[in-house]
Amino acid sequence: MTHRVTLLPGDGIGPEVIEATLLVLEATGISFDWQRHDRVGTAGLEAYGDPLPDVVLDSIRDTGVALKGPITTPVGKGFRSVNVELRQRLDLFANVRPCRTLPGIDTPFKDVNLIIFRENTEGMYSGIENFDERLQIADSIARITRTGSERIIRFCFEYAQKHGHKQVTLAHKANILKRSSGLFLQVGREIAPEFEDLEFNDRIIDNMCMQLVMRPQDYDCIVTTNLFGDILSDLCAGLVGGLGVVAGANIGHENAVFEAVHGSAPDIAGQQLANPTALIRTASMMLDHLGEGEAAAAVETAVVEAYAERDTLTPDVGGTANTMEYAEALATRVSDHLSA
Ligand code: NAI
Ligand code: MG
Repeated sequence: MTHRVTLLPGDGIGPEVIEATLLVLEATGISFDWQRHDRVGTAGLEAYGDPLPDVVLDSIRDTGVALKGPITTPVGKGFRSVNVELRQRLDLFANVRPCRTLPGIDTPFKDVNLIIFRENTEGMYSGIENFDERLQIADSIARITRTGSERIIRFCFEYAQKHGHKQVTLAHKANILKRSSGLFLQVGREIAPEFEDLEFNDRIIDNMCMQLVMRPQDYDCIVTTNLFGDILSDLCAGLVGGLGVVAGANIGHENAVFEAVHGSAPDIAGQQLANPTALIRTASMMLDHLGEGEAAAAVETAVVEAYAERDTLTPDVGGTANTMEYAEALATRVSDHLSA
């Protein structure tokens, strides 16, 4: 079977980490029919007068799946974030960010293995804002809906069940934000009993942060609203080695866009210094989504082994290899695993 997938290399380090990832995907032997679009962001503006051209959205609606490199957002001027717009236009409500300790990287904990499920479309980032010029009063409305809460919480429970997890923790601030966070917690408590095999608990967000930096091993799946999820997922990325190694996915009912957490890293772009591990693990999540579980596992296992042996790693994690040298060594491991 051939998988049709939209490929958005992005800019900055994007094309380099995409090339490295394609090499590793090739080693899985899975066949892809890539619908490649290079003209997005600044290049899209130049070519089509639009940083997120319709041809790109149409392609993702058609294939249902995209693998995406980072896209630069101009600061304080120019077009709004193509990355945020993609998530909103395609209603990609679940932002899934697994944070797992890799061997061979020096971090405070050796056994972190958790996933943040962040609501990606509403809450504090609904975009409902008001500013009274005369009184100098600003409002940002954290709109929480029952529908929006149900779909992310249900998504988290179903994912946890399907992937053999044990526990779901809902992070909130329902003691103070009685309406908005209160609704999110209430919906969680209603849905939890449907999943008897999964232990359910909840934590107030500030306590959650303390718990995560003291005992991250106690947590498995964490579901939360947009702003809390944004903050928690960076906190957890920091627990496991940082931006070069953390994967991510934006998933909706119709479409899914797979992209690493990191940005376009203009400071190291074009120098073969970028760590493609984050995007390679992102591609492993995509393989799983496409029903290619065996290939997905082979890629993740190869990454873990490469780090354990500290074999040809990139400079950000203390190695001396360049982007493609790391990818080539990893690709060999992947094909060895699959042919074994
Ligand atoms: P960044 O993630 O691009 O870089 C932060 C730091 O981490 C830099 O020092 C960079 O060199 C390093 N870094 C990032 N990824 C790395 C990798 N794979 N290997 C080794 N080092 C890595 O964040 P920054 O500088 O805040 O943003 C740069 C641009 O990227 C901005 O225009 C921003 O809007 C955009 N961005 C795009 C995202 C996306 O496409 N989803 C996400 C985040 C930022
Ligand atoms: Mg963030």
